[in-house]
Amino acid sequence: MRRSLVAANWKMHGSREFVEELLGALTRELATQSEEVEIVVCPPSPYLSLCKEILRSSPVLLGAQNAHEASSGAYTGEVAAQMLNDFDVAMVIIGHSERRALFAETDAQIAAKCQSVVAQGMSPILCVGETLQEREAGQAEAVVARQLNAVLEALPIASMSDAVIAYEPVWAIGTGKTATPAQAQEMHAFIRSLLAKRDSVMAENMRILYGGSVNASNAAQLFAEQDIDGGLVGGASLKPEEFITICKSVSK
Ligand code: PGA
Repeated sequence: MRRSLVAANWKMHGSREFVEELLGALTRELATQSEEVEIVVCPPSPYLSLCKEILRSSPVLLGAQNAHEASSGAYTGEVAAQMLNDFDVAMVIIGHSERRALFAETDAQIAAKCQSVVAQGMSPILCVGETLQEREAGQAEAVVARQLNAVLEALPIASMSDAVIAYEPVWAIGTGKTATPAQAQEMHAFIRSLLAKRDSVMAENMRILYGGSVNASNAAQLFAEQDIDGGLVGGASLKPEEFITICKSVSK
C-alpha cells in the first residue's frame, strides 16, 4: 500500500509574516498524523529555519525546492543537499520544469542532483513532464521516458527506493488547465511500467504525484485514480484553506 503524499511547492513566494500565518493554519488543521497522507511543505531556502521551528512538533514535513549537485564549492548563490539536511529537510524537489526551462538544467545535472539528495538520506521529488508542443507532436511519453531514464541510469536502482516522482505536464503548471484524471492516470501508469522494467517491487511502492493546477475542486478526482498517489501543488498551496482541502481529498 502506498501512502499518499501532498507536497506544497511555494516557489519564490512568501515573507516571514506569510510563512508564520500559512504554517500556523496548517499545523492547527493538520495536527494529527494521518495514516493515509503525508504532507510536506517546500519553502524558499531562507525560510527553512523558521519553518523547521514552526513545524517542530507537527507531522507536516519540511522540504526544499532545489539542491546543487556538488557537496560544497565556489557556486555563488547555490545550496548543497548537505546544507538542507542540516535543517531536517526530508524531501527535495528536483528537476522542476521551471528549473529545466528557466535555469537550463539538463537531464544529466538533474540526475546528479538526485544523487546528492539521496546521498544525504533525503528523498528527491523528481519532476518530469512534457510541454504542450511535445504532447501535440505525440512525444509526451518519449519525453517523460527520457527524463526518467536519465536518472534511473545514473543511480543504482536501490538508492531510489524512497524517491518520489512528480508528473507535471508543463502546459498544466500555473495555467489553470489541469490534465484530466484519465490523461494523468495514463501517464502515471506509463511511468510505473518504466520503473517496473527495472524493479517491479520498487515500481509498486513508488509514489507518483500529479502536479499542474491541482486545486480544491479537482484534487479528489485526480487522487482517486489508481496510479496517482497525491499531488505537487503550486499556487493552491499558498492558500491555507484550499491546501488543507487538497490534503483531505486523499481517500485511499
Ligand atoms: P501549480 O504549480 O499548482 O501552480 O500549477 C505546480 C508546480 O509547479 O509544482
